Amino acid sequence: MKILVTGGTGYIGSHACVELLEQGYEVVIVDNLSNSKFESVKRIEQITSKSLEFIQADLQNYEALRKIFSKFKFDAVLHFAGFKSVPESIENPVRYYINNLVSSFVLCKVMSEFKVRRLVFSSSSTVYGIPSSVPVNEDAELNPCNPYGQTKLVVENFLRDLSKADTDWKIILLRYFNPIGAHPSGLIGEEPIGIPNNLLPYISQVAIKRLDVLSIFGNDYSTPDGTCIRDYIHVVDLAKGHVFALDYILGDRKEEDNKAVALNLGTGRGYSVLEVLQAFENACGFSLPHRFKDRRPGDISEIFSDPSLALDVIGWRAELGIDQMCSDAWSWQHANPEGYVD
Ligand code: NAD
Ligand code: WQD
Repeated sequence: MKILVTGGTGYIGSHACVELLEQGYEVVIVDNLSNSKFESVKRIEQITSKSLEFIQADLQNYEALRKIFSKFKFDAVLHFAGFKSVPESIENPVRYYINNLVSSFVLCKVMSEFKVRRLVFSSSSTVYGIPSSVPVNEDAELNPCNPYGQTKLVVENFLRDLSKADTDWKIILLRYFNPIGAHPSGLIGEEPIGIPNNLLPYISQVAIKRLDVLSIFGNDYSTPDGTCIRDYIHVVDLAKGHVFALDYILGDRKEEDNKAVALNLGTGRGYSVLEVLQAFENACGFSLPHRFKDRRPGDISEIFSDPSLALDVIGWRAELGIDQMCSDAWSWQHANPEGYVD
């Protein structure tokens, strides 16, 4: 089976490629390298001792995509490509809406033309906005609070419409919670450009001494230690979730399953910022400088998933805990202090 992985040189996509190759799938990556490096392809091949095809192209380019679909006969598509920074999306909504929406529309147009109608889409817990209660299940209200989250919701709605209009489509929308960690080999991992916005890359760069001190945004939330709670999930568990989703949409399914199914991918357990910091300090073996700052605008006090639907529908559940997430993140950062060097 041949799978097109859009955004496959990125953080989550590269981990998914490893799992796909290890399960015997053939992989073709399409990525414009706007937020990743070609070196990750070499690392994926090194981990798996298998080769894959890489094509540098922008998904918004209809003709380029048509050429790729003419060359390869795909069985399904994992669609990771997109921009993902919340603050950047607030500053530059045009860039975010165009890239995240147009790439998804063009991709689906070409998939329709070539009758490739199996798709797994990278959505996000951000579509829930501020949840009215936790844990959050897939029936919760969808109310994203930033342009990035809006782009995810628009694509989800578009894919729901697509699967209603043509029941030959089989689509899964995976709503990731907070992916962290790295492949245990230390060969692939997260490499943010510039100063990281997200907690784990920030902590890792303090540990490797690229940054001086971690700012903890708020310690006056109504949580046990006053810091925000999130559902962190190991990126390898997340990557495996895609293989389960793919096996499901490529398998025989019942009539009523011909609709775009949304599934939470999380552990179902929340950790506070201070608990994550403690777990990372245990992993690296020394304490990390940190200070408390004001709350970050837009932050939600507490969110974690109810991941039971993913278990019911595709048979997947997360297996790795916070200690493993932090020790794998540290192994990656320690072995690659400046990230990938092409
Ligand atoms: P990433 O930036 O590491 O990977 C995305 C990849 O897409 C990059 O390699 C980038 O070069 C590529 N890309 C972007 N626009 C493109 C285009 N127009 N054409 C071709 N390639 C393009 O991000 P990631 O963390 O691996 O996230 C993957 C997906 O998962 C994204 O859609 C993101 O929104 C979603 N997601 C991520 C998180 C997270 O915390 N990392 C959480 C929820 C959802
Ligand atoms: C986690 C906690 C911060 C940095 C974002 C997106 C979401 C999804 C995942 C894509 C919060 C605190 C952080 C720092 C800190 N991405 N923090 N100091 O905000 O839950 O989610 O990434 O879909 O859509 O919104 O993740 O890692 O930024 O923050 O104290 O330097 O860590 O306040 O409580 P978040 P995060």
